[in-house]
Amino acid sequence: TYVVMDNCIKCKYTDCVEVCPVDCFYEGENYLVIHPDECIDCGVCEPECPAEAIKPDTEPGLESWIKLNAEYAEVWPNITVKKDPLPDAKKWDGVENKLKDLSP
Ligand code: SF4
Ligand code: F3S
Repeated sequence: TYVVMDNCIKCKYTDCVEVCPVDCFYEGENYLVIHPDECIDCGVCEPECPAEAIKPDTEPGLESWIKLNAEYAEVWPNITVKKDPLPDAKKWDGVENKLKDLSP
């Protein structure tokens, strides 16, 4: 499965949701997650994200993000259509340690 990492937080470009063949993205206020049981590992979303926030879960050290994606995918609503990025997306793109800014 693929996971959405911290650089999505406060950016939320949503290009990813448009290309996913199984519509497995779920939307929070300022972050998206992928449902691990629905993702078919096709990989098409990874290069679509302008913030480079999507990674395969086979990369080392992603345990906390895998857990976070699985948890929020159960409670947040599904998103399948692209919308405008968050207003300050450009400013926040690349800022480190944005996990504290996640709005649950
Ligand atoms: Fe959707 Fe494919 Fe990305 Fe999984 S890897 S979230 S199936 S686009
Ligand atoms: Fe987030 Fe990138 Fe999608 S910023 S909303 S993972 S396109």
